[in-house]
Amino acid sequence: MTLLCPSWRTFLSLLVLPSIVLAYKWPNPQLDELESQRYDRMGYNARALSEGVIPCDQFLLGETVGRANAADWLRTAYHDMATHNVTSGTGGLDGSIRFEQDQPANVGNGFALTVLLLRGEANRYISLSDILALGAITAVEQCGGPKVNFRGGRVDATKADAPGVPEPQQDLKTHTEIFARQGFTQAEMIGLVACGHTFGGVQHQLFPNIVTNDTRGVNNTSGNVHFDSTFITFDNNIATEYLDGTTHNPLVVGPDETNSDKRIFSSDGNRTMNSFRNQRVFFKTCADLFARMVDTVPRGVQLTQVIEPMPVKPQGVHLVYMNDGRIRMHGDVRLWNTHEDPERSAEVCWLDRLGHECDGCCWQLGHTSDQVSTFVADRKETTSVWYSFNQTTRYPILDANSSVSKFWFEIDEGHGKRVEDQEGHRYALQDVVMLADSSCREDLNLTLGIAVRKGIKPTRLYLEAESIIDDLPVVRTINVPMTTPTSRNGLYNVYTFSDSTLFREWNIVLEVGNKKYATTNLQRHEFPDCA
Ligand code: HEM
Ligand SMILES: *[C@@H]1O[C@H](CO)[C@@H](O)[C@H](O)[C@H]1NC(C)=O
Ligand SMILES: *[C@@H]1O[C@H](CO)[C@@H](O)[C@H](O)[C@H]1NC(C)=O
Ligand SMILES: *[C@@H]1O[C@H](CO)[C@@H](O)[C@H](O)[C@H]1NC(C)=O
Ligand SMILES: *[C@@H]1O[C@H](CO)[C@@H](O)[C@H](O)[C@H]1NC(C)=O
Ligand SMILES: *[C@@H]1O[C@H](CO)[C@@H](O)[C@H](O)[C@H]1NC(C)=O
Ligand SMILES: *[C@@H]1O[C@H](CO)[C@@H](O)[C@H](O)[C@H]1NC(C)=O
Ligand SMILES: *[C@@H]1O[C@H](CO)[C@@H](O)[C@H](O)[C@H]1NC(C)=O
Ligand SMILES: *[C@@H]1O[C@H](CO)[C@@H](O)[C@H](O)[C@H]1NC(C)=O
Repeated sequence: MTLLCPSWRTFLSLLVLPSIVLAYKWPNPQLDELESQRYDRMGYNARALSEGVIPCDQFLLGETVGRANAADWLRTAYHDMATHNVTSGTGGLDGSIRFEQDQPANVGNGFALTVLLLRGEANRYISLSDILALGAITAVEQCGGPKVNFRGGRVDATKADAPGVPEPQQDLKTHTEIFARQGFTQAEMIGLVACGHTFGGVQHQLFPNIVTNDTRGVNNTSGNVHFDSTFITFDNNIATEYLDGTTHNPLVVGPDETNSDKRIFSSDGNRTMNSFRNQRVFFKTCADLFARMVDTVPRGVQLTQVIEPMPVKPQGVHLVYMNDGRIRMHGDVRLWNTHEDPERSAEVCWLDRLGHECDGCCWQLGHTSDQVSTFVADRKETTSVWYSFNQTTRYPILDANSSVSKFWFEIDEGHGKRVEDQEGHRYALQDVVMLADSSCREDLNLTLGIAVRKGIKPTRLYLEAESIIDDLPVVRTINVPMTTPTSRNGLYNVYTFSDSTLFREWNIVLEVGNKKYATTNLQRHEFPDCA
């Protein structure tokens, strides 16, 4: 194995690839989670969020045709955010829509269905309000729209915000004031409404005074009259049909007093709407406005950086202590934006626990044809290819004395090895606490073997688990007594602990003084049956 020295390699990579900027340094549990939820959309290791908008006319849990989750998810993000007051810094996208459905502006089951469908994706690293933001973005991106910047870190409200969602019977002056209170100019108001109303429509059953023709029985619909002719496709038809006079938008051609889209769209002499004849202008405007919309949060909430895809991302990397005193290493790695390539070979390499290179410390990674995932935005599909440390039950097995401290990847696509090591930082992994392979499950009961490296002075061992309280995930800690190890073979003590309340993801934490060592997330289904 020939390696350039790290500083020289960093220099070279800066020189040759100036445009590749580290998204962040792995591991970072919150950013890792936000990145996966954002980019692992379909296929291998995919998250569930996009299932509701593929195909885009999908309407889960609902009984009617003519409606779509995509439309509800976008509308929910707007209505949740629409309570914001820029002056006082109150309200904003904070999940408060859960408590606001008795407000007249929030009629219909769209908000309840959205929260019900999406809340299961929230966890201790990604709040319900982050998921509502990402639900709207996913709908836009997946259904033909532009890529919208996403940040995480929203904090969920525990009660309703002051009402503030606009309603169609209000006049133009009121709407302009409402959008100004939310932090948007008049031109931005026109943009936001047009961008929002490219999806969905107005239902007769909720607004019989606007959609007067009751077509609910016809084709089993809710009588939803769509804003444009392509109600599940993100496009500028909302603007061109309005300008050409061919629109059926009920907020343009309906009764005068509720024609809010007509008043808003024409409020600058159609200047903004005319600019939307250009699809590129429409996409760019919508992408910017949606990003600002979902980033409108109560004052004091700190959002993360924009979540960019990690070019080479390890996932689920963990160590398992074996009965014979050695250590197994498991995990996956995602190569973003590439295709399957029979010529490609990929290796994981590692340094021992003292940070030295070691003999045989590289392992050929495995790949099967199902290890591909995709992400869609800007009407383009990005493919990623995954490799696995576990090549049909063969994984790197480490001598526990040498163990591991950092790993990296070496990829060869036929023109020499490329080193992927986070610009020389490599990927850090702790070996102080890990699961033992005596761990197993029996019905609800998980029996954990927890291996703790000898020769350190642990002060506390606990699990970080999640419970759902009032529909939201909260972290709870479960102490693991360290009175007597059940096994002391080799370099680790193994403590046995049983618990039948570990359902969502959880991890093990060991405190040594004020230092913390934590495993990555573990899940029940990864455990073998006890038998
Ligand atoms: C003055 C501002 C606005 C008014 C008066 C307004 C009014 C309405 C009304 C009356 C409906 C029909 C709801 C139903 O029947 O289910 C609707 C639907 C919708 N609105 Fe707005 N809206 C405004 C701004 C926005 C904005 C800024 C967005 C997003 C950025 C948005 C997104 C949507 C979507 C996606 C739907 C379709 C929902 C579905 O079909 O299920 N609206 N709007
Ligand atoms: C409408 O369709 C749903 C399922 O798609 C069905 O459960 C419901 O009974 C239908 N309603 C009517 C009035 O046909
Ligand atoms: C927004 O907050 C400011 C400052 O607290 C307050 O004076 C104003 O009335 C609020 N606006 C609305 C529409 O509630
Ligand atoms: C009402 O809807 C029906 C069914 O689509 C249609 O035939 C009829 O022309 C509509 N009436 C009006 C006044 O739009
Ligand atoms: C009902 O479905 C038929 C066949 O798909 C379609 O031609 C017709 O326009 C639909 N009617 C309404 C009111 O949506
Ligand atoms: C804006 O466009 C609509 C649709 O073409 C038209 O009816 C209206 O007169 C225009 N308004 C202005 C102020 O130009
Ligand atoms: C390793 O891969 C095999 C075959 O895909 C699978 O059956 C096994 O569960 C994997 N083991 C682990 C620990 O991931
Ligand atoms: C374990 O590693 C240390 C440091 O490299 C070495 O001094 C020691 O001899 C090793 N012990 C065994 C049992 O291999
Ligand atoms: C869980 O399994 C352990 C080990 O088999 C056993 O000692 C314990 O009683 C079980 N707990 C429950 C609640 O079944």
